[in-house]
Amino acid sequence: MGDVTLTAEGVTAGYVPDLPILREVSVKVRSGDVTLIIGPNGAGKSTLIKSIAGLLPVSEGRVIFDGREITNLRPDRLAEAGIAYVPQTDNIFRSLTVGQNLALSLRRVADGGARQERLFDQFPVLAEKRDDKAGTLSGGQRQFLAVAMALAVEPRLILMDEPSAGLSPKASEEVLAQARKLTESGVAVLLVEQNVNQAMRLADHVYILAEGRNQVDGRPEALKADNVVRDIYLGGKRFSPA
Ligand SMILES: Nc1ncnc2c1ncn2[C@@H]1O[C@H](COP(=O)(O)OP(=O)(O)O)[C@@H](O)[C@H]1O
Ligand SMILES: [Mg+2]
Repeated sequence: MGDVTLTAEGVTAGYVPDLPILREVSVKVRSGDVTLIIGPNGAGKSTLIKSIAGLLPVSEGRVIFDGREITNLRPDRLAEAGIAYVPQTDNIFRSLTVGQNLALSLRRVADGGARQERLFDQFPVLAEKRDDKAGTLSGGQRQFLAVAMALAVEPRLILMDEPSAGLSPKASEEVLAQARKLTESGVAVLLVEQNVNQAMRLADHVYILAEGRNQVDGRPEALKADNVVRDIYLGGKRFSPA
């Protein structure tokens, strides 16, 4: 368990002024950990990720990354600070090849060619398809490409919003295993997932959100052992794990 790298404290945010969706939400993310956010549809999981990623205004509370306040910084500044965001959808350019997608994400990186080759070493399946249009990739391969693009800036924190959505169980397993693998080099992963059972198996810490607020958090084993949490959030009526 590494040091806390990201702290969101009492974050209130939404899409329309004076209509908060998140209310005073707090999370902590440690280096080398997969921190998982789960909760029913409409709980505010994507909203939280987007507020941390600088895509939605935070009206109250603050976000601290490696000791520095980053609340409401622009997405490009957050990337420079070491935070990458993998959106839930539309995270690659389908009409471009795999190589062109990576080259785009590496355009501001000095020595991008060498970095691209390292990404291909890390994702052999992408190397095989480097000249294929990204739109021809399988769902799982597309998520690998989106993750590889996010890694271009050598982030210390990666925000991933439902990377396994719409994938087969096998592809989901591979994409989630990749998220786990990223942490081996000390990167922190903040992961939103609907595949609760699969994701709980690889998470170090889990936050449950509902109705825009923190509900419970803890280690996955502790949450699974809690009857009330299990009934309400883990396979209970409010959740239908895929
Ligand atoms: N672009 C938007 N404009 C206005 N309201 C939105 C927008 N996106 C989401 N919401 C609302 O914010 C709430 C939380 O949504 P979201 O964060 O996407 O939930 P989750 O990711 O947990 O399923 C929902 O009530 C949803 O209707
Ligand atoms: Mg969502």
